[in-house]
Amino acid sequence: MHKKPWDGRFSEKTDISVERFTSSIDIDKRLYVYDVQGSIAHCKMLAETSIISEEESSLLIQGLAKIQREIERGNFEFDDSLEDIHMHIETRLLQEVGKIAQKLHTARSRNDQVALDVRLYMRDEIKNIITDLISMKSSIVEIAKNNIDVIMPGYTHLQRAQPVLLAHHLMAYYEMFSRDLARFNECLKHTNVMPLGSAALAGTTFPIDRDYTAKLLDFPAVSANSIDAVADRDFIMEFLSAASICMVHFSRMSEEHILWSSSEFNFIGLPDSFATGSSIMPQKKNPDVPELVRGKTGRVFGNLISLLTIMKSLPLSYNRDMQEDKQPLFDTVDTLKACIYIYRKMLPKLEINKEKMLKAASFGYLNATDMADYLATRGLTFREAHTCVGEAISYALSMNKELHELSLEKLKSFSSLFSEDIFDFLTTKQMIDRRMSFGGTATANVMDAIKKAEKRLYYEKKVL
Ligand code: ARG
Repeated sequence: MHKKPWDGRFSEKTDISVERFTSSIDIDKRLYVYDVQGSIAHCKMLAETSIISEEESSLLIQGLAKIQREIERGNFEFDDSLEDIHMHIETRLLQEVGKIAQKLHTARSRNDQVALDVRLYMRDEIKNIITDLISMKSSIVEIAKNNIDVIMPGYTHLQRAQPVLLAHHLMAYYEMFSRDLARFNECLKHTNVMPLGSAALAGTTFPIDRDYTAKLLDFPAVSANSIDAVADRDFIMEFLSAASICMVHFSRMSEEHILWSSSEFNFIGLPDSFATGSSIMPQKKNPDVPELVRGKTGRVFGNLISLLTIMKSLPLSYNRDMQEDKQPLFDTVDTLKACIYIYRKMLPKLEINKEKMLKAASFGYLNATDMADYLATRGLTFREAHTCVGEAISYALSMNKELHELSLEKLKSFSSLFSEDIFDFLTTKQMIDRRMSFGGTATANVMDAIKKAEKRLYYEKKVL
């Protein structure tokens, strides 16, 4: 068992069960790079402000770098009695450079140290997620562009509603992921604030230079209130909620791909390399990848609720409860990254059944609104037109026919405003290309949206 920093005040050793219960090393060891990075910056600042000497600082830095290499190579021993990654590194440093290791914690507490480590970790991971989302958006735009002529039924209430371009439907996801990107960028700004120097909660009596530390660690801002700095986990809650919304989008897309690959829809085929079979039913090809993405959404939501509940009602400032922030954070980072990765790989491989989609868009009275629009532009009010087309549908249904399969003569019995051009008017292609209102599904609009997206993606990739 190792000595504890607080041994001076305690007359009994920590019970082994308490050590096990309070230890977080299994989870927070992944922060080691950031812990070393933060400690090195802290050392440099302590030397710069003459709180420690240059020689002491460089000895500490060499020791820290050596410890990082040991951990990287797997030559580092982890032990519950040392609680967390911060104490592990500090204790190992003591063995490595001797007593001066104890100077590293001058003007610092684990409370501001852990806040710093998590912010450094999140900064990297949010950037990774942003990069992955940009690639995801690129794939969507490319598939939309390559399938610009594919027509599918658009749905409301999961009932066929009006024909749309598949590209338009796909570009809806582009918009959703663009908003996710904006949320992660915003979260990055709130994460990018340097808390070190807040010490336990009240700041420090040492003449530290927090701006200097911030500069070394490339933070554009330092936290303004030491109590808030050690008590704040808003940036993690924000990240978990941005991730949850992003998973809602992935889950909705997954749901569609699951439905579309069923024989009831048969709009898409999953590549064999991204599907699995059944152990009993030889004919089965199951959409496990989208199903699992849909399923993993549950844990990402759970992680958000978990942290919200941990933080709710905590008095200021730091409380040990907050150690429980890391497991949900890490799990969400891992899960979201895994989902984006697998989807990016699968998406371009989906086979699109163009004929099936067009057929589904051509049956089921998807041209009813257009027929009403036709009458409304030729003299009826839209409400009258709606009623008139309703009657035509009722008749067509009784005859087991589509609207465009009725004769002109029959149509004229519902309204004398119908003439020969109604049949051209009701083709799916025309219905789509007439929807020229900004943001509508007309081919010209969608091509425009794709062009704009390509331009935006070019800049988004450039600033990475
Ligand atoms: N392992 C702790 C955490 O993750 C580090 C901070 C400990 N601070 C303390 N006062 N015990 O929150």
